Amino acid sequence: MPVHDDLSAPEVIADPYPYFHQLRAEDPVHWNPKWGGWILTRYDDVQWAFQDRRLSADRMTPFMRGLPPHEAEELRPSFDIFSRWMVFTDPPTHTRLRMLVNKAFTPRRVEGLRSRIQAIVDELLDALSDRRQIELIRDFAYILPVTVIAELLGVPPHDRELIKRCSDEITLFIFGAIGVEDRRQRAQHALLELVAYLRGIIEARRRAPRDDLISALLAAKERDDLLSEEEIIATCVLILFGGHETTTNLISSSVLALLRHPDQMRLLRDNPQLITTAVEEFLRYDGPSKAMVRFALEDCELRGKQIRAGQRLLLVQSAANRDPEQFPDPDRLDITRQPNPHVAFGYGIHFCLGAPLARLETQIAINTILRRLPGLRLATEHLEWHPTIVSRALTALPVAF
Ligand code: HEM
Repeated sequence: MPVHDDLSAPEVIADPYPYFHQLRAEDPVHWNPKWGGWILTRYDDVQWAFQDRRLSADRMTPFMRGLPPHEAEELRPSFDIFSRWMVFTDPPTHTRLRMLVNKAFTPRRVEGLRSRIQAIVDELLDALSDRRQIELIRDFAYILPVTVIAELLGVPPHDRELIKRCSDEITLFIFGAIGVEDRRQRAQHALLELVAYLRGIIEARRRAPRDDLISALLAAKERDDLLSEEEIIATCVLILFGGHETTTNLISSSVLALLRHPDQMRLLRDNPQLITTAVEEFLRYDGPSKAMVRFALEDCELRGKQIRAGQRLLLVQSAANRDPEQFPDPDRLDITRQPNPHVAFGYGIHFCLGAPLARLETQIAINTILRRLPGLRLATEHLEWHPTIVSRALTALPVAF
């Protein structure tokens, strides 16, 4: 059967792996006219594309250029913020932003959150202790990351609802929710509300710094260079956004992977110290970032295919992470797998800034769930995934225990 080009076909959304295996085997550098770009499914090629300087991470400029002029004008306020996201910039702008943000978002700051994360996880599970069935995403996986990020940034607890609501609306834009009519306008409205809110917090921290990430971003200095207020705001939105949905999705897909592999669940429950390799395997096996986009700045050749300047490429991480040439028995979940050089957090200069935090949260969440929810099982066999091309996200995960 020839490979079809519908990346959002229901069977591909439900289980993308057979489709990606077929594509990788038959046409690893595939021109997809429906999506309008090259689909890369081999591990080597995805790694190459994350690193080659002829490919740009700036997806915002081509997107804005493609809009009708009146819509581009209407969305200019969103563009002004997104274009300052380091993830959408190339060197030297990226180098400067990442260096300054690295000064504030340090491994020490993340490790310092360990006991707070455990406390938040325990509080969330305490609140569910008299229940025998929950919807794991709504009741747990969705609340944990945004609470942690808000705390990391230094947002007061009573404002967290605003942060959550805005972040959800912005997701509509970035992950391209299919079928939501006015999604860009709604996202922009939420974005501007969030920006106004953050401006207030930044002002307060300028006057009286605290031990939080916003104060650290204000203080971050490289030689005589500081982040501007607009850059700090954009970075806070990026961290909030980047650290929220993705981690929710990793926690829920990890729980699902264990529920579908009872032997691996038993192994982890009996050996909680395996959690470090287990989380890497959850990221590889069914990680939340299915694919990333790049744009060619110059003509280049890959496996005999001519990629032209201006064309876009889809770097399919989910396919790379199941490439049999890189991972023996790639469709098997093995929580002890080592080495495990997956690309779920990307690769090269844009490698996920929040990876240490996502890992820590997921490690604590999964081990605590296994310890505190005995007899954990799926409460339905009917699971649905959000119909997006770039992310892998369950809509709900009903479980009983
Ligand atoms: C399981 C959870 C997560 C996954 C799967 C994930 C995935 C990714 C990926 C694939 C990239 C590379 C983007 C590219 O190359 O275009 C990235 C970048 C980034 N992520 Fe994450 N992420 C996660 C959690 C987080 C968290 C918790 C934060 C913040 C606290 C965060 C903040 C960022 C930032 C700021 C970048 C941009 C880095 C740069 O451009 O240099 N992410 N992430």
